[in-house]
Amino acid sequence: MSKIHAVITGVGGYVPDYILNNQELSTMMDTSDEWIRTRVGIEERRILKEKNTGASFLAAKAIDDLFSKTKESPENIELVICATTTSDHIFPSCAAMTAERTGIKNALAFDIQVACSGFISGLEIAAAYIESGKYKKVLVIGAEKMSAIIDYTDRTTAPLFGDGAGVVLLEATTGELGIMDSLIHTDGSGGKHLRIKSGGSAYPATAETVEKREHYIYQEGQHVFKHAVSNMSEVSVAIMKKNNLTKDNVAWLIPHQANLRIIDAVAKRTGIEYEKIIINIDRYGNTSAASIPLCLWEAESKFKKGDNIILTAFGAGFTWGAVYLKWGY
Ligand code: UT7
Repeated sequence: MSKIHAVITGVGGYVPDYILNNQELSTMMDTSDEWIRTRVGIEERRILKEKNTGASFLAAKAIDDLFSKTKESPENIELVICATTTSDHIFPSCAAMTAERTGIKNALAFDIQVACSGFISGLEIAAAYIESGKYKKVLVIGAEKMSAIIDYTDRTTAPLFGDGAGVVLLEATTGELGIMDSLIHTDGSGGKHLRIKSGGSAYPATAETVEKREHYIYQEGQHVFKHAVSNMSEVSVAIMKKNNLTKDNVAWLIPHQANLRIIDAVAKRTGIEYEKIIINIDRYGNTSAASIPLCLWEAESKFKKGDNIILTAFGAGFTWGAVYLKWGY
C-alpha cells in the first residue's frame, strides 16, 4: 500500500485594513522610517482596530477566503489546529471560537502555542494525523493579533510586529506530494530572552503587573537575532541534506518574517538564490505564527505542482524548525 501524505490543497489569508506605517509610528515614539527600514526591513504593518475582536476574527476571515476559493464545505473539516500566541481568551481556544465563526461543527479543534514556530509545528501535527489515517481534511491556521501584546511606548519592540492570519487546507493523498519531512526543535533555556512575563498562572494579572508593563512582549533583540540566524540556517540545511535537496532543486524558501537581515542571512547560508525567497515583512512586519501562511497565501500563484518548498521558523521558547513539502497543485 502506498504511503499517505498530507498535501496542501488550498490557502486563505486575511490582513486588517488599517495600515500603520513607519511615519505614523515615528510620531508615537522615538524612532524613524530610516532606522526601521534599514535595521528590520519593515515599511508598514496591519493593525486590527475593531473593538473587542481578537485572533479568531482574523482566523475566520482567512478561512472564509479559503472556503470561497476551494468551495470546501465546513461540515467536511475534521480537525482545526490554530497556532497562536494571541488567542482571544485564555480559554476557550481560538480554534473553537474560529470553528464557531465559520460553521465548522464536526471537528476536533485546538490551539497550539509554539510562538513564531507555531504554523510549521501545526503542519507537523496535522501531517501525523493524516498519515495515520485518522483524518482526511484538516485546517492549520496561523492567526495573530500582535498589536494586543505590544507596548507602544517601547521602540525596541513596537515597530516589529503586525496582525494577520493565514490558513491551509490539508488533505490525504497517496501521491508523492505534500509534507515530506519536518524537523522541529525546542530549547527552553531561551525562554527568558523573549517572553511575556505576566498574565499566566505564575504571575497572574495584578495592578502591579499592569503598572510594570509586564503584559507586553519583552525581547533581547540581539541575542534572539543570533539564535534565529544560526538555528533557521542549520535546520534548513539539515532538512535539505536529509532529503537530497540542493539549492538548485529547491524552488522556494519561505522563512519566518522577523527581520529582513535574518532572512538575508538564512538565504546566504542555505545558498538558495534570493529570487526564490518569499518575503512579506516589508508590508506586514512580524506576524508571528501567521507569517509563513501569509507568505503561502500571497505567493500561491507562483507555485507549481511538485515544487520543492522549504519553510523555516524561529521563535520564543526557543522553538525552531523546518518543513519540506512538495506543492500539490
Ligand atoms: O519572531 C521571533 C523572533 N524574533 C526575532 O527574530 C527578532 C530578532 N532581533 C532583531 O530582529 C533585532 O535585534 C532588532 C530589530 C530587535 C533590533 O535590531 P538591532 O540591530 O539588534 O538593534 P540593537 O538592539 O542592537 O540596537 C541598536 C541601537 C540602540 O541604540 P544605541 O544603544 O546603539 O545607542 C537602540 O537603542 O538602535 C536603537 N534602537 C532604535 N533606534 C531607533 C532600538 N530600537 C530602535 C528604534 N528606532 N525602533
